[in-house]
Amino acid sequence: MAKMWAGRTDGGTDKLADDFNSSIKFDSKMYRQDILGSMAHASMLGGKNIISKADADKIIDGLDGILTDLENGSLEIDYSCEDIHMFVEQVLTQRIGDVGKKLHTARSRNDQVALDTRMYLRDRSNAIINKITNLISAILLQAEEHKSTIMPGYTHLQRAQPITFGHHLMAYAMMLLRDVDRFNDLNKRINICPIGCCALAGTTYDTDRRFEAEKLGFSDIALNSIDGVSDRDFCVEFASASAMLMMHLSRFAEEIILWSSWEFKFVELSDAYTTGSSIMPQKKNSDMAELVRGKTGRVYGDLIGLLTMLKGLPLAYNKDMQEDKESVFDAADTVDMCLDVFAPMVATMKVLTENMKLAAQKGFINATDLADYLVKKGLPFRSAYKICGQIVGDCIKCGQVLETLSIDEYKKYSDLFETDLYEEISLETCVKKRISEGGTSPESVAKQIEFVKEKIQ
Ligand code: ARG
Repeated sequence: MAKMWAGRTDGGTDKLADDFNSSIKFDSKMYRQDILGSMAHASMLGGKNIISKADADKIIDGLDGILTDLENGSLEIDYSCEDIHMFVEQVLTQRIGDVGKKLHTARSRNDQVALDTRMYLRDRSNAIINKITNLISAILLQAEEHKSTIMPGYTHLQRAQPITFGHHLMAYAMMLLRDVDRFNDLNKRINICPIGCCALAGTTYDTDRRFEAEKLGFSDIALNSIDGVSDRDFCVEFASASAMLMMHLSRFAEEIILWSSWEFKFVELSDAYTTGSSIMPQKKNSDMAELVRGKTGRVYGDLIGLLTMLKGLPLAYNKDMQEDKESVFDAADTVDMCLDVFAPMVATMKVLTENMKLAAQKGFINATDLADYLVKKGLPFRSAYKICGQIVGDCIKCGQVLETLSIDEYKKYSDLFETDLYEEISLETCVKKRISEGGTSPESVAKQIEFVKEKIQ
């Protein structure tokens, strides 16, 4: 097939060079956006009498037919074409004749590809927002059920203070809420229309860029034609928000993997989201969570690939930029899959509350509360801290915990200790009393749940 751009050269490129140059293998995903963009363009050309109204209608009809046929499978993508833009224009001209050759008036593939990519990512971004929201909903249900379930809270992966499982889960809800914010925010910058920037300098035709932008649902147009065709910030932002989201999912995944281990046994994943071993009959592996953790690396790669491709790139369009698509497509596909499996995995996760409670009872995680008890009786915190440290050290030596040490023993460390201390250091009290805003008390967790619920509505 002769190249559409044959003229200056004979278009007779080497077969390997053709394959190397071609992007249709991956940009054919954007056929819908390409066709809708072309319809809006033809409509503008007709409206501004750049081509006749009759020609514009013929083109729009032809494009509509191509879209229908691609969607119902009666037209197949010809992968020998250079890219999706060339393919659509080629089929159009085959179907409606020379009129089809008028479509590319007052535009270039440079603004066309930027337009398609923006329209495509806009859809993907909105779909991701919905999927994050689904995951948040699954978290909210578990958090609601476990707003009073006691578990050890960790710092340095050492048992630190008692918390509720609901509180721990809500930390992830907050992270994911920021992810929703980030995608919503970057959507504002995706939603700027580049069509009409043409190759780089704009055009001599009396076009109406705002008409096209409005028809395609954009909120504004790119105000500098060189920037319009060179800007891929929106791709970087999309990959960046995806990388951040994956980082959050991978932290959550890592905890689920730990919690599922025999060493913790805080949760049990549903069989639907685990696998067995081909050799060890006892195994139940958290493969889905592990894969989410693993796939985070490739999304980081997508981001770094994009940033590196754009680094030092002179204005305006350079073919390097064709590399943008596989990165953002891969990031979008990966994020989609991970969110799809994560939400039901969390929703069906069984929480082993007894094991959490047992673990919480073993690590002196109420030592801070014991110190606070002395503080409330008038001792400066540092002195209280020191006494309690000694008590913990002695308890470890004689195999006791703070709850089992007798009041007579306590009195040896300080006269301020009375029997009401036992109530003060019970894990339930420790948790219930942490009423500071954002704290772990069931009351505070309930407030967090309400807040997030309202946000995602
Ligand atoms: N396939 C190209 C891309 O994805 C389309 C733009 C081509 N423009 C050009 N001047 N060769 O970037």
